[in-house]
Amino acid sequence: EVAPALRQTLLTWYGEQGRDLPWRRSRDPYAIWISEIMLQQTQVKTVLPYYQRWLETFPTVAALAKADQQTVLKAWEGLGYYARARNLHKTAQLIVERHGGVFPEDFEDAIALPGIGRTTAGGILSAAYNRPVAILDGNVKRVLARLVALPKPPAKAMNELWQLSEQVLDPQQPRDFNQAIMDLGATLCTRHRPACMLCPWQDHCVAYRQNLQSQIPMTETK
Ligand code: ADE
Repeated sequence: EVAPALRQTLLTWYGEQGRDLPWRRSRDPYAIWISEIMLQQTQVKTVLPYYQRWLETFPTVAALAKADQQTVLKAWEGLGYYARARNLHKTAQLIVERHGGVFPEDFEDAIALPGIGRTTAGGILSAAYNRPVAILDGNVKRVLARLVALPKPPAKAMNELWQLSEQVLDPQQPRDFNQAIMDLGATLCTRHRPACMLCPWQDHCVAYRQNLQSQIPMTETK
């Protein structure tokens, strides 16, 4: 069973090298929800000023729910993919109606909300409530594909990748584990020139052992 060694090495690395990001200092499910929606299609560096300003403009679910749509779209201006802003507004109203203004802790309740898919729900529930829910965003797919030297494109192996993400997730520290695996993908296990020499998973990584890290994850060819 390799999962305990993967958890321990990753969490130690994260303690030393993890990024200090504002949403990681928060336990407010509302603030964490906002950060995860902004981060869906936008880079961390771009999100930072928007995140701070958004929380000043709309400090709670209730404040967002009762704001004008025009004010909400204005606060989003520059982030793109405006469906995200419309979903945030609608979802704030649903959270007031269905959940008393508190982002739901239950996975099924969370994914029933507009704009919240499986990986966003995992990101929010693990960060806000330390609930053991796996994530699988683009960075995590790449990390896991390399870890096992996945012999097919991630899009053709989603069941295997979700299963792997659930298997490696630390049930004792899901919050830190999910943040850590995202950082690994964002800072070391990058698409181009991954920094394998610095990687806490070097000893466990099948792609590294076979010198296949530049060829995995495989890309779709039609
Ligand atoms: N991308 C998606 N969620 C993230 C998070 N919590 N921290 C950094 N990047 C992310």
